[in-house]
Amino acid sequence: MEHKRLSPFPADFLWGSASAAYQVEGAWDQGGKGPSVWDNFVRIPGKTFKETTGDVAVDHYHKYKEDVALMAEQGLKAYRFSIAWSRILPEGSGAVNEEGLRFYENLIDELLAHQIEPVVTLYHWDIPQALQDQYGGWESRQVIADFTNYATLVFNRFKGKVKHWVTLNEQNVFISHGYMLATHPPGVSDPKRMYAANHHANLANASAIKAFRELGVPGKIGPSFAYGPNYAIDSKPENVLAALNAEEYNANFWMDVYMWGEYPKAVFTWLEEQGWAPDILPGDTELLKQGAPDFMGLNYYQTATNAFNPIDGVGLGKMNTTGEKGTTEEQGIPGLFKNAANPYLEKTNWDWEIDPTGLRIGLRRIASRYRVPVFITENGLGEYDKLTAESEIHDDYRIDYLRRHALAIQEAISDGVEMIGYCTWSFTDLLSWLNGYQKRYGFVFVDRDEADEKDLKRYKKDSFYWYKKTIAANGANLIDEK
Ligand code: GAL
Repeated sequence: MEHKRLSPFPADFLWGSASAAYQVEGAWDQGGKGPSVWDNFVRIPGKTFKETTGDVAVDHYHKYKEDVALMAEQGLKAYRFSIAWSRILPEGSGAVNEEGLRFYENLIDELLAHQIEPVVTLYHWDIPQALQDQYGGWESRQVIADFTNYATLVFNRFKGKVKHWVTLNEQNVFISHGYMLATHPPGVSDPKRMYAANHHANLANASAIKAFRELGVPGKIGPSFAYGPNYAIDSKPENVLAALNAEEYNANFWMDVYMWGEYPKAVFTWLEEQGWAPDILPGDTELLKQGAPDFMGLNYYQTATNAFNPIDGVGLGKMNTTGEKGTTEEQGIPGLFKNAANPYLEKTNWDWEIDPTGLRIGLRRIASRYRVPVFITENGLGEYDKLTAESEIHDDYRIDYLRRHALAIQEAISDGVEMIGYCTWSFTDLLSWLNGYQKRYGFVFVDRDEADEKDLKRYKKDSFYWYKKTIAANGANLIDEK
């Protein structure tokens, strides 16, 4: 739909930016922190780009005051970060590390002192290694109680100061990469185990939300989901069905459970047929239904375009983690769908399609299917950036990307979608899990690379100033910049 005039952004719209503990903090073994599964996984040869680790990352642990000062200079309204579970509970449960809690308390207080709202993610992929060793982490139902216990500790400590909470970040990503693609810890490739671990994560998510409500924590809570809306490559009915399969399998399979406590029928039936369906025990569905979130957190990067894929068709393929354009392999789920290149979309050097209209489509689908407000908890462009001799970074491609996506949000608001805010990924440059440090997302350039930590000095990119202007105008500048 086209509007004669776009609606303005709400006055309290949260213009923010995001990060995750493992990707920025460093200090991996300092301040009483226990190891997480990522601390060990990155040490397995060949797992990450040029064997990079987050041991130092961008040293946010020591430089958080400098980073918050930059956020304040930009006028940021919200900063989303994650708490490392093993910094609070080095063994995953039991003894509490007060020094870890104090680090996050200092960060939260620093943000509040600068009128920046802290948005806290409880889990961004770094389960304590101790729980992995003890009972296989997400593969055991014990994780439900342990995650709830950890969440409760954090709720009690920070309630009143934090108004927006994110439970699990991209459950679909850490589960599929961890238990199917074997590219994230624990490096397993077994669908039966994957769906069991996923079911436990669903239960842990619901249990934490239930605890949040029982404790009377003021504020709102929800998961962040990595949603890439699915398109059919054309109007051939087999391809339209493939896109429906992809939407049900890749999106509804998670979001329906969050919102309604039930798996989509067609996907669950298909899982039963394969012998991969999780065991749903008495009481599970009741718990899931008690954990309906207040909002859907959306991490949006790209859409997917689908085509028919026969039962003996293409399966899992390799991702591009090197930044050499065109190296992503064809992939799909035999019998359900495969991914096809969309002829209308440009790609980044990591082969991620750029599709601002896809964001509007995703927002519309979520809003009309689930009728909840949406909080965009991540969106951004990973690219090579160059520090010039004048110490500047001219990232006009990032400004263009963010401007077009922010405008798509304004269009969705004009369509009637209720929005809480927009956190770009990311504030500073950071470790990009499997892609090293060369794939940069930040408004703030951090001088380091894979081989050399250098001085980790911060430099403001051109996009820093563009976002500053956009926040000050509450987005009113976007339409004119079109
Ligand atoms: C997401 C993830 C982030 C970040 C981002 C960009 O999947 O939540 O941690 O890595 O992708 O690559």
